[in-house]
Amino acid sequence: MFKLQTLNKISPVGLEVFDKAKYEISTELNDPDAIIVRSANMHDMEFSSNLKAIARAGAGVNNIPIEKCTEKGIVVFNTPGANANAVKELVIAGLLISSRKVINGIQWAQSLKGNGSEVEKMVEKGKSQFEGPEIKGKRLGVIGLGAIGVMVANDALALGMDVIGFDPYISISAAWELSSNVHRASSLEELISTSDYITIHVPFMESTKNMINKDMFSIMKKGVRLLNFARGGLVNNQDLLEAIDNGTIACYVTDFPSDELLGIENIIAIPHLGASTPESEENCALMAAMQLRDFLEKGHIKNS
Ligand code: MLT
Repeated sequence: MFKLQTLNKISPVGLEVFDKAKYEISTELNDPDAIIVRSANMHDMEFSSNLKAIARAGAGVNNIPIEKCTEKGIVVFNTPGANANAVKELVIAGLLISSRKVINGIQWAQSLKGNGSEVEKMVEKGKSQFEGPEIKGKRLGVIGLGAIGVMVANDALALGMDVIGFDPYISISAAWELSSNVHRASSLEELISTSDYITIHVPFMESTKNMINKDMFSIMKKGVRLLNFARGGLVNNQDLLEAIDNGTIACYVTDFPSDELLGIENIIAIPHLGASTPESEENCALMAAMQLRDFLEKGHIKNS
């Protein structure tokens, strides 16, 4: 019997993949054969010698100590693409709210107090402070053309944006999916220096840490709206705060709040909701569970 430990709540759709006669599934197990995890931080976890595989029901694997797993021969799976639509939809919302000051406007409207027609009058008088530009006709730079980046690029075209993408390692399947109307930048600098809106869709690794830094901010146009639904560490927060102060960044939308980014008018901090849809949780759990089952039972290693 295989022992499978679940470190987070996993959609039952995923767990149904495992034949109950062959598996003991529990949140508490001493020496599991495999672990299925969502966002629990595994960096300080002791791994038993029996552990053969970890599956992350999600795309990013920065909550898993990859080097330690490699040393110990533990196979790590993730589920790229399984939550791409959920993230893409929130990125499109992020694009719109980075431009139109809807969030600030809602907060302001909720704070209004008055009787009868007073609130209506306050709205008419005060709403001009929340004006923001349309995205149609503006250039969106998409850094990273994986599953999410390609979807964002294609949908932004449908919203009338001029889209430019950059990815030196684009896969053949992503290249096929990408509309031919998306310009391919010859360098990151070309994308950064010509875009009105920039959205980041690359994995967080040593080589991408702080990739959006002082140098990048210095070549941006004034008033850029920057979106980060990939990982917080891709943007250097100190450099970002300077870029907000000097008017380079008109709005930063991030799915990764941290204390230095809170309470700042031009920053919209979302509590990591990119993949928080029931559909995405089911897709990720299903893909992660099938990967583990096929590995444990047949020795197959297939990361989609
Ligand atoms: C991912 O890495 O798949 C997304 O950021 C969502 C998540 O962490 O679950």
